[in-house]
Order: sequence, then C-alpha cells, then structure tokens
Amino acid sequence: MARYEDLAGRTALLAGGATLIGAELALAFARQGCNVVIADIDVAGGTAAAARCGDAGLFVETDVTSDSAIDACLAAARARFGGIDFLVNVTTSYLDDGLDTARETWLRAFDIGLVGGAMLASKLRDELAARAGAIVNFSSVSAHRAQAGRFVYPAIKAAVAQLTRSQALEFAPLGVRVNAVAPGWTWSNVMKALSGDDRGKVDRVGGPFHMPGRIADPGEITGAVLFLCSDAAGFITGTELAVDGGYLAMGPEQATSPIAALVGG
Ligand SMILES: NC(=O)c1ccc[n+]([C@@H]2O[C@H](COP(=O)([O-])OP(=O)(O)OC[C@H]3O[C@@H](n4cnc5c(N)ncnc54)[C@H](O)[C@@H]3O)[C@@H](O)[C@H]2O)c1
Repeated sequence: MARYEDLAGRTALLAGGATLIGAELALAFARQGCNVVIADIDVAGGTAAAARCGDAGLFVETDVTSDSAIDACLAAARARFGGIDFLVNVTTSYLDDGLDTARETWLRAFDIGLVGGAMLASKLRDELAARAGAIVNFSSVSAHRAQAGRFVYPAIKAAVAQLTRSQALEFAPLGVRVNAVAPGWTWSNVMKALSGDDRGKVDRVGGPFHMPGRIADPGEITGAVLFLCSDAAGFITGTELAVDGGYLAMGPEQATSPIAALVGG
C-alpha cells in the first residue's frame, strides 16, 4: 500500500465502517498513522473493526438517520481525538423491491444511504474547513446502469454521485475536497449472504462483468479512498473514481467477441 505521510496523525470518521469494506478501510487508515472513528449501528462488527486498529480505533454506535445520534458520535470523536479531518460515507441500505417498493422503504433507504451522509457533511463543514479535510462518498457502478429488479439502490448511488459534485462546489472555497469512489462488485457481507459464503460462486457470476474476470477484494477499494484523502489528490475534487475492474468501461458485449461468433456462424 502506498504511504501518504500527510495522513499520519489525522482522524478519519467512517460512517458504515463496520462492513467488510469499512473494516478494511479502517485498518488501512490506521496503518497510515491515522485515528479512526467507526460510526455504525452494527455493535459487534464495529467494535471488532475498531479493535483491529488498536489505540487508533474508536467505535461509536451511531444511527445515521438520527441527528442526535450523529451529534453524540461527533462529540465522542472530538473528546477522544480532538477533531475530524476526513469523512468517509460507507453506509448504505440494500432495501429494494424494485417497482413494488413501498414509500416508507424508499424513504428509509434514502435516509440511510444518502441523507445520513449529507447530514454528517453539513455538521462537519466548519471542522473540515479548519483542518483542511476531505470527504469521500461511496457511489457504485449501480449509479450508472439499469439493473434488473433494482430501483432504490441505483437511485441512491446516483444521488450520492450528484451530491458529491454539489458538495465539492460548496466546500471548495473552504479548502475541502469532496470525491466519491464507485466500486464494482466487491466481496462483502451482502455477497457472503447472497452466495452462502461462496466466493467462487460470486466470482463465477460477477466475474464476467469485470475485465479481470473476478470481483474485488474489500482491500482493493481502500487505496482509492486513502489517495483521495491525501495531498496527492490535492487538485482532485467533484469526481467519482471507478474502482470497478473496468465494469463501466465494458459494454453489453463484455469480453466476448461477437464478430468472431458472427463470422464463425
Ligand atoms: N458490496 C459491493 O459489491 C458494493 C459495490 C459497489 C458499491 N458498494 C458500496 O460500498 C459500501 C459498502 O458496501 P457493503 O456491501 O459492504 O455494505 P453493507 O450492507 O455490508 O454495509 C452497510 C453498513 O451500513 C451500516 N448501516 C446500515 N444502516 C445504518 C444506519 N442507519 N446507521 C449507521 N450505519 C448503518 C450497516 O450496519 C453496515 O455496516 C456501500 O456504500 C455500497 O453501496 C458496495
């Protein structure tokens, strides 16, 4: 992993940091010498993820749909580490019944996947400005493609991508950069649950959508986030960095050769 000297001694808040991806990210920040605050409703996962970071880790049980819970989390983070430099919004909901999605499900999913992160950014505006901080939001390849049976999740991710551009413009005069990462299929709790913890099966199903022929490991998403927080990305703001193994670069033909198939008969 690249070393970013400017990250050492700073503090990252990871909303949704109890996920496999979030926990890898927490460890990656800690290895750069950062303090890490994990804000999540998953007490067991969040506690374990913070423990892996040793003294640099702090878990605060936080429901991002509650403003008072967010305030309490920020207070705990400041009490322990003095202030927050980086906000990383990993939190998501996979609630989605496609065309049949009920209104309350739409609203709940957007509250978790979009509004929670927006509230965090708003509440941290002055602090991030004072500390020359940065924000990284989690978008997805799903923000850019129609996917069968999915309405809510892709809409949330597209909204996150747009919010990133809007936030970047608003935060730029404050010296705060705002970007997003857009992962492709990544080994994660949802993939584990859907496949019965069968990584080979997920690679067989999802691999063809990615140029390397496999899905990503959680640790393969972290480098992009560290880079976007670091001074190495000092002139990068308002963008979405695809960490997708070429998913979005490929078209419906994927890696097949239809011309050869036509010629061959
Ligand atoms: N897994 C993938 O293949 C994939 C692909 C592209 C993008 N992403 C994005 O990566 C990020 C992580 O994905 P994942 O699959 O690991 O997600 P996940 O479902 O495993 O994790 C979601 C996290 O959000 C937390 N959470 C849910 N509701 C919350 C609330 N109200 N308050 C606080 N925390 C709450 C959960 O406890 C969990 O830790 C997401 O933003 C997702 O959209 C994932």
